[in-house]
Amino acid sequence: MPFIDELNLEGKTVLLRLDLNVPLKDGVIQDDSRIRAALPTLEHLLQRADKILVCSHLGKPKGKRVPELSLEPVARRLSELLDREVDLAPDCVGDEVRAAIGELDPGGILLLENLRYHPGETENDPEFSRELASLADVYVNDAFGVVHRAHASVAGVVDHSPVSGAGFLIKKEWQYLSKALSNPERPFVLISGGAKVSSKLGLLHNLMDRVDRILIGGAMASTFREAEGYPVGNSLVEEDLIPKAREIMDKAMDRGVSFYLPVDYMMGPAPDQEKTYGVFPFQDIRSDAMILDTGPATHTLFSETLKDAGTIVWNGPMGAFENPTYSQGSVGLAQTVGNVGALTIAGGGDTDSLIHRCHMQDRIDFVSTGGGSFLELLEGKELPGLKALGISME
Ligand code: 3PG
Repeated sequence: MPFIDELNLEGKTVLLRLDLNVPLKDGVIQDDSRIRAALPTLEHLLQRADKILVCSHLGKPKGKRVPELSLEPVARRLSELLDREVDLAPDCVGDEVRAAIGELDPGGILLLENLRYHPGETENDPEFSRELASLADVYVNDAFGVVHRAHASVAGVVDHSPVSGAGFLIKKEWQYLSKALSNPERPFVLISGGAKVSSKLGLLHNLMDRVDRILIGGAMASTFREAEGYPVGNSLVEEDLIPKAREIMDKAMDRGVSFYLPVDYMMGPAPDQEKTYGVFPFQDIRSDAMILDTGPATHTLFSETLKDAGTIVWNGPMGAFENPTYSQGSVGLAQTVGNVGALTIAGGGDTDSLIHRCHMQDRIDFVSTGGGSFLELLEGKELPGLKALGISME
């Protein structure tokens, strides 16, 4: 596999694609984890390369210059974290950028302005890809969060770069995920939660042939219970997916995969309300209320099911965890997953924020930096950014 530790970087100008798409509020970075996740690759390059050109997208400016989506705050934070000057170029391609690269001291880092100011980025335009590649001798991608995008700086650029490879973050994601998917310690347990079955269909179908047990939580569990004929009160149900939900449960039965749904729920009027109606068993739920979290019996059942696991992959919370009233099922599960002896991997935007919120990130072996990319990888989809570099999960 073409990883950064095998590339000759001495004296080279390197174009480094990162995912620096950080949450911003009034120009202030709300969470800098994505910048921190890039530090090992940056440190490695700083010790070897001549010049480092960092590029990233921020938000969705749709091919136009949107000043609020400038990478300026990211340049400042990068500079603080690396304790060295990091200037922001006025653009990511063009004469001004070439001039800025020419003026960059050996060992210097230049952050290029938001790639998505150019329509060619999201269109994977070959001319834009060629322009990007022509800025450097070597291209390194360490933006796992965007490897599912067939964009110029992720996919097309590789066709025009003489040498390309992946950074340490992608390498780590690849090591953990390929181990879990191709050679898992058993029992292999998938935990899937979140609001919608529709967004988890691909993952459930793809992993069905690999896992031994599936635990389902979150609002999506209601669609499965309704498919079994149980009442779900006012809970979110995807009526049109009831046949699919049945199909998934039948498939699990055919393949000998144990399929667990919550056996009790915390119910209430709505996800944003403090008031709760208490805990109800799944056969006897309150008809005028919503299922908003898993209950204590489910916690015991799921904990028992995870106790002897060899591998756990987790995507999606158990309930409306943003509201402390309905966070116990998700937080309890994070604590269980963090304390079992299995190889534990979690990912997805909500799961990541839940795990950080309850400070379990150091107890879980690997928390993926990918949101959409993590999900698409588990769905078995070919990811353009990995394919371009010749990285396969098998
Ligand atoms: C993310 O935030 O998940 C990545 O940066 C990808 O962003 P995108 O969904 O705008 O492509």
